[in-house]
Amino acid sequence: MSSELEEFYERVLARPGIVLLLGGIDAGKTTVAVELLRRGLQSGLSVGLVDADVAQSSVGPPTTVGLRCPSAEELTRESLRVADELSFAGTITPRGHLLSLVAATSKLVLAARARNCDLIVVDTTGFVSGLYGQLLKFHKLQLTNPDYVLAFERGGELEPLVGIARRFTSAEVVEHHVRPDLPARTVEERMIFREEQFAAYFQGGVSRWKVKPSVFMPTLPPEFDLALLDGIVVGMEDGRGSCAGIGVLEYDDSQNVLRMVSPVTQGVRGLRLGSVRIATDGKSRGPVDFRNLFRTD
Ligand SMILES: Nc1ncnc2c1ncn2[C@@H]1O[C@H](COP(=O)(O)OP(=O)(O)OP(=O)(O)O)[C@@H](O)[C@H]1O
Ligand SMILES: [Mg+2]
Repeated sequence: MSSELEEFYERVLARPGIVLLLGGIDAGKTTVAVELLRRGLQSGLSVGLVDADVAQSSVGPPTTVGLRCPSAEELTRESLRVADELSFAGTITPRGHLLSLVAATSKLVLAARARNCDLIVVDTTGFVSGLYGQLLKFHKLQLTNPDYVLAFERGGELEPLVGIARRFTSAEVVEHHVRPDLPARTVEERMIFREEQFAAYFQGGVSRWKVKPSVFMPTLPPEFDLALLDGIVVGMEDGRGSCAGIGVLEYDDSQNVLRMVSPVTQGVRGLRLGSVRIATDGKSRGPVDFRNLFRTD
């Protein structure tokens, strides 16, 4: 482990709080997140991981932001998968979905605070470039209000974000220079990982039940063709502000009905439409264009 990181860990453990990790893909963010939690637990702190990476998720299924407050025994990648709380973002890419991503992330940081976590680590997507990368991270910083920002610097790509964090937040901003020899995963490997995570979520057994067209957010316009919803991932909300899990919509042509396919069977009052289509074996069926779907601006 680099001395840069060692120093950072020591500082955080001496004065624990909220740590936001910023960096491109394959920069080591999740590895550092888990290491921080491990050391926090070792020091007797109660810890929480807010996994705001909706594509390469470590807590909860893809399309969700997940909170997990593990004990030392639960700090394995396998065990972290099971979320204590979920917030639906409905997307696997931040582009065009900044609002739902920022809102879901900030909601779960608040949830971690409500659970009295001493140390809260926020792991984020590797979407750090361009105007939208800046807007996304700026608003995440505003709403999560971290005590520390750890920036995984690689070839200067994070300079604008480090500048923003320093100028617009009171966080202690620390730059960590990413080792050039970290293994990178291909786009294909990332897609397979995501599909496996979706598949694992549905593998434990699912129920199917009929869905009324009036339960959706956004509300469906009159005379809406239900067939257009086939395959869309939905967030299943309990009506008290929590997400109970995700499901996939299935359109039955022979009876013109829409069914929900999900491991969640109880306590669902509303369904939030997501922006991706999948099969229940996890395979991607492509993105959903909301404006096109609703024929509106
Ligand atoms: N200090 C390290 N030494 C050796 N290998 C490491 C180290 N940190 C991370 N890795 C490896 O580098 C790869 C990327 O790490 P990690 O998944 O933590 O990055 P990430 O930034 O979370 O990536 P993603 O964009 O997929 O979220 C993994 O294979 C991990 O095992
Ligand atoms: Mg990661």
